[in-house]
Amino acid sequence: MSQTYDKLMKCYKSMKKKVKFKPEVALILGSGLGDYVKQVQVEATVAYSDIEGFPVSTVPGHKGRFVFGYVKKVPVVIMQGRVHYYEGYDMADVVLPVRLMKMMGAKVLFLTNAAGGVNSDFSAGELMLIKDHISSFVPSPLIGPNIDELGTRFPDMSDIYNKELRVLIKKAAKKLGIPLQKGVYLQLTGPAYESPAEIRMCRLLGADAVGMSTACEAVAANHMGMKICGISFISNLACGMTDEPLSHKEVQEAADRVAPLFEKLVTESIGMIGKSLKEKKQGKS
Ligand code: HPA
Repeated sequence: MSQTYDKLMKCYKSMKKKVKFKPEVALILGSGLGDYVKQVQVEATVAYSDIEGFPVSTVPGHKGRFVFGYVKKVPVVIMQGRVHYYEGYDMADVVLPVRLMKMMGAKVLFLTNAAGGVNSDFSAGELMLIKDHISSFVPSPLIGPNIDELGTRFPDMSDIYNKELRVLIKKAAKKLGIPLQKGVYLQLTGPAYESPAEIRMCRLLGADAVGMSTACEAVAANHMGMKICGISFISNLACGMTDEPLSHKEVQEAADRVAPLFEKLVTESIGMIGKSLKEKKQGKS
């Protein structure tokens, strides 16, 4: 058995002992969305530090725990605080929580993050539905011997951000009257924000938003056959697009301001996703 799989199984066994809850949707909360849990009918919480061998986040403002409960009656598992590559973890550790949530039962992965806007049509404070990503600047979490128990050696990546889920999120945004940009998310390692020249490079490559998470999680989830969707909160225009220097504090404050709208959209979207999963189970579509 590979070391990565061994560790994952250890965490899974430790988690199973603590919770019996079976989630359908896994949600990762990005910067500023940590309070989302207040809206959740919580059934159980598990601190990352209580799971044997689990990588623990060091970013201020990130609480490290899994929250199990219901959003609009849909069983969910929420990561309150994610693990970032720039913290120094191996990529396998960064995506371990995603793999764990799949093993707990989640079929859908809902990713959220704060990101810098690269597209000059974007404004700070907007939300962007992720339609595709560029993960080529960070190591793939699938490097190393393939873990056949999780997925295939060469996974297809043509529909990473699932089209059906994207349609549902667009419907949810329309229903709530929330404007939604669409675009490509590019992951860099961080932790430094980008230079103006790097942002010009990102734009040339076709990115609309840039951040330090998410794409690697989508790669691991896709490998395991999860359906994935994601929304970026454009907390700022990326470096060089305004005269303002960037700070993590500024990103967090901006995220806090838009959080209520973002939370509404996430809740409505999860409701619709849950309904669609139920209909599929009952063979209606
Ligand atoms: N760059 C990278 N990551 C980010 C940014 C940014 O401008 N804003 C929020 N996360």
